[in-house]
Amino acid sequence: LGQIKTADDQPGLATYDPGFLNTASTRSAVTFIDGEKGILEYRGYPIEQLAEDSTFLEVAYLLIHGELPTQEQYEQWVHEITYHTFVHENVKDFMHGFRYDAHPMGMLMASVGALSTFYPESRNISDQDNRHIQIVRMIAKMPTLGAWSFRHAQGKPYVYPDNDLSYTENFLSMLFKMSEVKYDPDPRLAKALDVLFILHADHEQNASTNAVRSVGSTQVDPYSSVAAGVGALFGPLHGGANEAVLRMLRRIGSVDKIPEFIEGVKNGDERLMGFGHRVYKNYDPRAKIIKQQAMNVFEVTGTNPLLDIALELEKIALEDEYFVKRKLYPNVDFYSGLIYEALQFPPEMFTVLFAIGRTPGWLAQWQELVTDKEQKIARPKQIYTGDRTLEFVHREKRW
Ligand code: ACO
Repeated sequence: LGQIKTADDQPGLATYDPGFLNTASTRSAVTFIDGEKGILEYRGYPIEQLAEDSTFLEVAYLLIHGELPTQEQYEQWVHEITYHTFVHENVKDFMHGFRYDAHPMGMLMASVGALSTFYPESRNISDQDNRHIQIVRMIAKMPTLGAWSFRHAQGKPYVYPDNDLSYTENFLSMLFKMSEVKYDPDPRLAKALDVLFILHADHEQNASTNAVRSVGSTQVDPYSSVAAGVGALFGPLHGGANEAVLRMLRRIGSVDKIPEFIEGVKNGDERLMGFGHRVYKNYDPRAKIIKQQAMNVFEVTGTNPLLDIALELEKIALEDEYFVKRKLYPNVDFYSGLIYEALQFPPEMFTVLFAIGRTPGWLAQWQELVTDKEQKIARPKQIYTGDRTLEFVHREKRW
């Protein structure tokens, strides 16, 4: 259809679809979503089963390789990731150079992009072994970069990776270790973070994945592509909603103020943050799992009065005709901010956690892109609305 032209100077037929609401940019075998039925599957496996029985690194293997690992493959994969967690010492100097109040997402975006200069061979994307080692490096080093950006903001010394710990335990150690004594995180907290990483690991062609693919389509190295993904995620329309939920719960203040708040939502004065989703119109399958994890975390950390407000708000909204009619249900962000706060993360770190979880998804999609012979450089059409063939007037005659 795109080739139908009425004359040589005509552009031919094109679709105009801002935001790609109805345009598939790619074929993909990574993640399946059915928004009406509330289904999310990675490589065909339901998210509920993966969150229950798998680990984040196993899910990362699944996303990257397309199938679950054997025991030997899994052990090898965990070993490889574990032994690539350190970054070059110059990266540390590089990170020291940021302002004291630099946003950790800005630091993460810059430092993951900078890794391309430390691994110049990463530009050879046609070599499978080379792609593999860059993928391992990036999954391994993202928590190190994320944790160091957090320590930088706090003016605390950076903590080196502890390779005796699991992926999430090591991340917690790099974030919170305060002395030479080995950091010993509560396994329930490490498990909750692992599950949160699993739930965020991929979500098909969301804005940041589209950014990774778009930049990757130029055949640049994967570090530059993932830096673009981090940049997209930094935007408040993509990664910032869980922080908005916390602000909303604080503003409501107590359970008895909820009816008044709900009235404000119905009048259009407020939005119930953490509710509603562009794709999920039945329920967000990740929200149920996160709610359970929130309960597990609060068992360890002690409850937060904001949790009571969230639980009551959810109960009232799920029975209220306004929300039922509009198919508004809790989304992934409704409880995640509460968990992150209970784990003592400041709000600026919430999106960094999202980025670490999303890294295997970005890389699986990047790999799918660069090995797909049908893919072309991402170069959308436009509908030109400006002037044509004006006569230039020299500034001496215009002024
Ligand atoms: N609170 C109150 N009303 C809402 C909400 C909400 N959270 N979300 C949608 N509505 C209402 C709209 O006012 C509209 O009502 P109307 O038909 O009377 O005009 C109707 O529901 C449809 O809303 P849209 O904005 O058209 O829905 P859309 O699919 O475009 O928006 C979105 C989805 C942006 C997520 C929206 O539900 C929202 O703003 N939610 C709150 C923010 C949030 O939680 N974002 C995180 C999403 S998950 C993620 O990004 C990881």
